[in-house]
Amino acid sequence: MTVRDILKMGDARLLRVAEPVQAFDTPQLHALIADMRETMAAVNGAGLAAPQIGVNLQLVIFGSDAFNPRYPNRPVVPKTVLINPVITPLGANEEEDWEGCLSVPGLRGVVPRWSRIRYTGFDEKGQPIDRTVDGFHARVVQHECDHLIGKLYPMRVCDLTRFGFTEVLFPEISAAEDD
Ligand code: NI
Repeated sequence: MTVRDILKMGDARLLRVAEPVQAFDTPQLHALIADMRETMAAVNGAGLAAPQIGVNLQLVIFGSDAFNPRYPNRPVVPKTVLINPVITPLGANEEEDWEGCLSVPGLRGVVPRWSRIRYTGFDEKGQPIDRTVDGFHARVVQHECDHLIGKLYPMRVCDLTRFGFTEVLFPEISAAEDD
């Protein structure tokens, strides 16, 4: 396993539409996921999409078993590998909350997202995933899956007065805990 470099906003590879994964449960896929897990853990990320390490596949990981210092007030989201995802909004409600991104280090912004979604896809073995979620879990999935269509959260910030540096907006989050 290797901690991989995370591409930063401005890199054209973050703007691509990712390709579907064609083969499940392969050594290559398991190795990629192991690298992504290690990379995400090294920076206390809430999620990571394959395009963020330059791999143009529809694969995201998110969640954790425990408290995440980057998001101290947020509920725990189960550890998930999600491949070839499809998101369906349930209802018309949106909610706003702060987001950060490992590809946009040091910044946070308020982003509107669907409050409640259904998401489907596959895990690394090709087993189907079908969940209905809301709140922070729904937000994380929408954020990560946006990386698969070349969208970074600043592109979805509606009010740029609520977009800024983490150390200024949230001084209680130490620099060591931020990316
Ligand atoms: Ni991100």
